[in-house]
Amino acid sequence: MGKKVTVVGAGFYGSTTAQRLAEYDIFDTVVLTDILEGKPAGLALDLNQSRPIEGFETKVVGASTGPNGEGYEAIEGSDVVVVTAGLPRKPGMSRMDLLEVNAKIVRQVAENIAKYAPNAVVIVVSNPVDEMTALAQLATQFPKNRVFGQAGVLDTARFTNSIAETLAVPVKSVKALTLGSHGDTMVPVPSRCTVDGKPLADLLPADKIEELVVRTRNGGAEVVALLKTGSAYYAPSAAAARMAKAVIEDSGEVLPVCAWVEGEYGISGVYLGVEAQVGRDGIKKVVEEKLTDTELAGLKEAAEAVRAKQADVASL
Ligand code: LAC
Repeated sequence: MGKKVTVVGAGFYGSTTAQRLAEYDIFDTVVLTDILEGKPAGLALDLNQSRPIEGFETKVVGASTGPNGEGYEAIEGSDVVVVTAGLPRKPGMSRMDLLEVNAKIVRQVAENIAKYAPNAVVIVVSNPVDEMTALAQLATQFPKNRVFGQAGVLDTARFTNSIAETLAVPVKSVKALTLGSHGDTMVPVPSRCTVDGKPLADLLPADKIEELVVRTRNGGAEVVALLKTGSAYYAPSAAAARMAKAVIEDSGEVLPVCAWVEGEYGISGVYLGVEAQVGRDGIKKVVEEKLTDTELAGLKEAAEAVRAKQADVASL
């Protein structure tokens, strides 16, 4: 059977993720599902009609799903499933305000993934993502390496973009990193940021770096406030699609993702934003690199914050 990826949720995040995955032209099939009648099929048809112009052969299939799992046959045999289902936040909301409502949605989606695509690697992006990733693993009962979350690739991209704009350099010359949670305890890691190989600390004063760190932490909220309805999707979908690509190509590249941590950095038993090698089985290995004392303390604080919330999701 050919390579198949499913995107659950045909909102802006899901549909742009499906578009990027289709345009990569590395999958045979991209399935887009939603609980709305007609919308996924309409978007799939629209995307397929773009194939002659964009020049890709991947077929996009839209499927509407029902409350008792109706329609989920469409995801059968998926190698990768990206879960975007759930509500986005409104201006002024934190991602954590979505915990209860999105937990119900993600649990149901995860149970159907377990039933219809039992061998899939699951990439969770629904918010609050650190908690929804933990919930998806619980509800699928998949091995922990096969369920991971999106956050670090997106947050790192935001950090990178801000650094590049501030220094008026190409984004390509900037290497940056964020770890921790996709929320208040996000840990941008200036000690791992370089511009053309030079440490960021040699190029910007500490207060300016701190400003960029704060802006990165608020990167999603900044977009939400401007959009007024819905949340960001261009950078988020770029991040999710890249992760799915790393899986299907078994690339082994090291990406910042929300992965199950078992002893790295002295932290255990929690889904947390860390660097990990990504491949065909999901997470191949969590990669532990040197951090400053402050950054390590931030990561430990993030771990405890998400651990407390991840314990809550078991009952949601
Ligand atoms: C963001 C949402 C998708 O950060 O979490 O934009």
